[in-house]
Parts: sequence; C-alpha cells; structure tokens
Amino acid sequence: MKIVRARDFEAASRKAANYIFSQITLKPDSVLGLATGSSPVGIYENLIAAYRRGDLDFSGVRSVNLDEYVSLGPEHPQSYAYFMQTNLFAHVNILPTNIYLPNGLDEDAAAQCAAYDRLIHELGGIDLQLVGIGHNGHIGFNEPADKFVKGTHCVELTKSTIDANARFFPCEDLVPRKAYTMGILDILQAKRVVMIACGRSKAKILMEAITGPVTPAVPASILQLHPDFTLVADEEALSEL
Ligand code: GLP
Repeated sequence: MKIVRARDFEAASRKAANYIFSQITLKPDSVLGLATGSSPVGIYENLIAAYRRGDLDFSGVRSVNLDEYVSLGPEHPQSYAYFMQTNLFAHVNILPTNIYLPNGLDEDAAAQCAAYDRLIHELGGIDLQLVGIGHNGHIGFNEPADKFVKGTHCVELTKSTIDANARFFPCEDLVPRKAYTMGILDILQAKRVVMIACGRSKAKILMEAITGPVTPAVPASILQLHPDFTLVADEEALSEL
C-alpha cells in the first residue's frame, strides 16, 4: 500500500487525477472503474481541464462505475449515471457506447448483477479502480456486514449511508433504500486501486480501514490486501493515522 499525503482537497484531487492521467496516457483504451460522491469531484475537474488543454484523450477509454441506486434512471438528477454525465462524461470525448453503470431501473436484480459482472469480464477487467470511502467504511455500496460479497449484488443501504447521502436529495425519504454495487472481488481484481479520502470526518474510519484488521465490518479494510493500492488523502483525513 502506498499513502500519498496532500495538503488539502484540491491538492489531493490533483494528485489522484495524476494517476488516472498517467493510466490513460500509458494505455489509451484503459478500463476505468469510476466512483461517485463528493470526494472524486475535484479529480474529475482536473481530468476535464487536462482534456480541454489537449493533454488527455478519452476516445478509447471504457468506464464502469461502481454502483447505482435501484429505482433511479439516468435522467434522475440524483442517479449516479446523471452524476457521471454532469461531473465528467459530458465534458470529455468519451464515447457514450463506452460508458457503463448498473441499470437502476432493472427490477430483475439477479439478471442485472450477473450481466454487470459479465460485462466487466468481457471488457478484460478493470485497469484502475477509483474509490471513495463511506463514513462506515463502505466502498462502492459494499456496506459493513458479516461477510464480503464477491460479485455485483443488490444491497439494502444502511441507515448511516442513507443519512449521509440524504444531502444530495430534497429530503431523506427520497433516498433509495437499495443499490446495485460491484462486489469486493470485482474491486480487488482491478489491476490498480486508488482511493481518495479528504476531511476530518473520514479520519477515524480511514485509520480503521488502513491499520485495523481486515474485516467485512469495515469493507474498505480489504484493500490492505491489494497488491497495487494507493491512498491519496489530505492531512485532515490522515490525522488519526
Ligand atoms: C456513496 C458512494 C461511494 C462513496 C461514498 C462516500 O455512498 N456509493 O462510492 O465513496 O458515498 O461519499 P463522499 O465522497 O461524498 O464522502
């Protein structure tokens, strides 16, 4: 594991964006595993700026997102498909046919999850997976549990995740209670994993995830076992380490 310390959110975003920048530069047809939440927003801004400068070309990039809310379609402003369009895809030259997220409108969970795992496999696996970390240690939407789930699956979101994500919705009642998420093995099988974590509110869980036991009670702790895992974090998030 490599830990990259950054002064603040802006610096962390720049440093993490550099990993994606070099990944695309070295392998223009990279399969990127992308993430949502507030943490990656600065990374995407840096990537858009690099594209506008003419330094980055997304025309060969394929992207598979970590997760999507069940019941939200791509037109819904709080869906992750919409988030990715507004925060990255609409501003760069990635081909719409190369963009993949779980389909939140598919009511057949088993079929949707199997199809998503098959897709990742058919793409040849993920070259670089970007993740954030939830306050309860979740990655993607792999919530704390008594066992790790390997493949894409449908999860019941925990109260803490619903509360944390309510800030993006008009009210808490509108936060979907379920999501489709890549599983732990999908994430672990990525060739490289880059996590971004910023702010004091992430300090305690980051310390548990990075230095504590590997346990499904703190899903992010599994990343300790990944052979090419980089944590990019600001000083506040690293303050308990
Ligand atoms: C959501 C996403 C996660 C993300 C987490 C943290 O639950 N499913 O992928 O890492 O939020 O979000 P934030 O970066 O806003 O703290």
